[in-house]
Amino acid sequence: MSDATASTAAATASVTLTIDQAFDHGVRQHQAGRLDEAERIYAAVLECQPDRGDALNVMGILKYQRGEHAAAAALMRRVVELEPAADGVWNNLGNVLLRLGELDEAGRAFRRSLELVPTADAWANLARVFRRVEDYTHSQQACLQALSLQAGHAVATHNLALALLLDGRLDEGVEAALQAMRLLAPGEQRRQLYAQILLLAGEHERAATILRAWLAQEPGNPYVVHHLAACTGEGAPPRASDAYVEKVFDSFAPTFDDRLARLHYRAPQVVADAVAAALPAPARQFDVADLGCGTGLCGPLLQPWSRRLVGCDLSGAMLERAARRGAYDELRKEELTAFLRDRPGAFDVIASADTLNYFGELREVADAVRGALRAGGLLVFTLEALADGEAGPHSLQDNGRYAHGGASARAVFEAAGLEVRAPAPVVLRDEGQQPVRGWLVVARRP
Ligand SMILES: C[S@@+](CC[C@H](N)C(=O)[O-])C[C@H]1O[C@@H](n2cnc3c(N)ncnc32)[C@H](O)[C@@H]1O
Repeated sequence: MSDATASTAAATASVTLTIDQAFDHGVRQHQAGRLDEAERIYAAVLECQPDRGDALNVMGILKYQRGEHAAAAALMRRVVELEPAADGVWNNLGNVLLRLGELDEAGRAFRRSLELVPTADAWANLARVFRRVEDYTHSQQACLQALSLQAGHAVATHNLALALLLDGRLDEGVEAALQAMRLLAPGEQRRQLYAQILLLAGEHERAATILRAWLAQEPGNPYVVHHLAACTGEGAPPRASDAYVEKVFDSFAPTFDDRLARLHYRAPQVVADAVAAALPAPARQFDVADLGCGTGLCGPLLQPWSRRLVGCDLSGAMLERAARRGAYDELRKEELTAFLRDRPGAFDVIASADTLNYFGELREVADAVRGALRAGGLLVFTLEALADGEAGPHSLQDNGRYAHGGASARAVFEAAGLEVRAPAPVVLRDEGQQPVRGWLVVARRP
């Protein structure tokens, strides 16, 4: 056996190891989450022994963990070429192919794994392939096969719940979902998905069952408290709590811009166009506030008018991204009503895109805006619109955001002492292939 030399990050001196020892050391680094070190060692091992199946396999797993799915698939394909009876590798390959969206190939890989050794894991994975092609009957059957091999298999129970719910077998689906919630570890839970499927099916009472069980598992979880209120209509808060907003947007922040771009998000441009129409030519002449600035999409659009541009938001993770945009003079992690109250007469322009839809009652924020605007100052914001025929003045929707009637929102800001133009209907973005309808509100402090 040839030797390889490996120097570990921890060791100060070089040590000479056999290839097997180096490989074992790489696996230990991998298990400890030191992926760079493990990858370096696996690459060295594979340089000496390019057809070493176990090294190709762990390298494939490592690439998968890094999100390099095509590279992972190529490595695993090579392993099963060398060792066609490696059932576990066929199963891993199926998972990678599923991530790559190669559903037929993934199905073949899971079936090959099952032919070699029938396992609950591979059946549960095959169920995901069937679900992806909306074959919920076969998805359920695959889960039942998994459960016959291993009663209480958590992932199979979860997949069964999804297949039943999506198949419209709602009572059985809810039962399986509640069982999966008992079996899955906290980090692996998909409770939100069960509730969302049920809400999309108009099944509010059943969605509430899931949310109540979730709340029993995590008492006080602000996300669940808020969505349970939205779902049941009971105890809807006057606005989304600070804790809810922070939790939702801290986790949304990394994907916010990309996801909203895919939904043809227009609210920042709608607000900027209204600002442009209401103000003289831009000359960096005004003090401007961006309420709920998020990742700062409005920043560059408002900057041309801004002598000073201040953004405020409750989510630290959103603010971090806004800071990277470089358009703001100041960013504050504050609740926007409190932010405004602390700054009487501080702004010529207050803008807010897609943020006041986290408020039901607008009275307090309207008073705070009036106090923070200078005489003649401009307010521009968007709201989501109530569905046709829905009773106002506002309602907390299934998605957790509030929708408003345009006339009643106008009346609130007028009562606070602002001159408000008739709200204009706008489209804010798409959701579920449908346009999200909203209001553009433009007002002035006299
Ligand atoms: C949908 S995002 C819109 C962000 C940005 N205006 C844009 O158009 O891209 C809503 C933002 O409002 C913030 N937000 C919601 N309620 C808030 C409140 N009461 N005070 C401060 N920020 C709030 C959220 O944290 C989130 O970043």
